[in-house]
Amino acid sequence: MSDAAAESLGPLHDYVEYDHAADSFLDDVLEGLALPQKKLSSKYFYDERGSKLFDDICELPEYYPTRTETGLLRAHATEFAELIGPNASVVEFGSGSSTKIRILLDALETPAAYIPVDISRDHLLESAKLLADAYPDLPVVPIAADYTQPFELPEIAGGEARIGFFPGSTIGNCTRSAAVDFLRAAATDLGTDNGLLIGVDLRKDMRILHAAYNDAAGVTADFNLNVLRRVNDELGGDFNLDAFTHDARWIADQGRIEMHLVSDWDQDVRIDGHSFNFVAGESIHTEDSHKYDVEEFHALAAKAGWRAFRHWTDADNLFSLHYLRVA
Ligand code: AVJ
Repeated sequence: MSDAAAESLGPLHDYVEYDHAADSFLDDVLEGLALPQKKLSSKYFYDERGSKLFDDICELPEYYPTRTETGLLRAHATEFAELIGPNASVVEFGSGSSTKIRILLDALETPAAYIPVDISRDHLLESAKLLADAYPDLPVVPIAADYTQPFELPEIAGGEARIGFFPGSTIGNCTRSAAVDFLRAAATDLGTDNGLLIGVDLRKDMRILHAAYNDAAGVTADFNLNVLRRVNDELGGDFNLDAFTHDARWIADQGRIEMHLVSDWDQDVRIDGHSFNFVAGESIHTEDSHKYDVEEFHALAAKAGWRAFRHWTDADNLFSLHYLRVA
């Protein structure tokens, strides 16, 4: 780390940045739009504007996951703290605004460190600094990385258990087989004798799902369209944002919500000297949000080397939290 970088850390203990948090956007876009079913990875939603729009989604009346999970975290915080024990370092995968972690940190006995990992570098540093200011005795070590790629966890002096925290049903973005890969890698990163507290959205009446991903205020539509704005701003694309319509669909046989951007008419889009043709009604698939039953998730975790230790759900069976231990 350069001196200038070290100085700008402010209250942060240390900071680690991986290359895979940066470049490949252009390559991914060109590759994804050349597929028969055009595709853009949902990880590109989260620039500063997208991260802000996601925070707005979390406040929507139709978007039940955030408030339900927060309720579960509050209701069972003491129990988590007992399960996790003292002096644990907590690694959060995809930390975003680092709000839910406060509930856990407040309940834990003398946590050794907080290690937020996120692909959105500026948002990560800003959130980590706010958190470090609020918890002056807690070493905060942000890692800018795509957590689906390999990265190393820093050694924490005095840390006992290492706990992974993966809230929000972010794991739902992965296909079922990629979820197994992620969980297996997390088990390796965290090491034996450690735990993972993970939020998983449940299967439910598709009308509830449909409303949550096609909100009346259109915030999810803006969030989805923001990825096209990024292509325009950062890669010199010429997407007409008024010529694509947000659509979220329940795909029963895959057990997931898929988000798409549907072309309103026949059109060509140019990006960095490449041209992409859309016929009316053709879509770009931008996100998967997989939903699980408790048993189904436990079977998947078991495949990845985790033992389901305890789980909690809300009274309406909307959302689940799982504490897994390395088997
Ligand atoms: C952050 C992936 C959990 O799938 O519900 C919210 C993202 N997309 N509304 C989800 C999202 C549309 C969210 N995750």
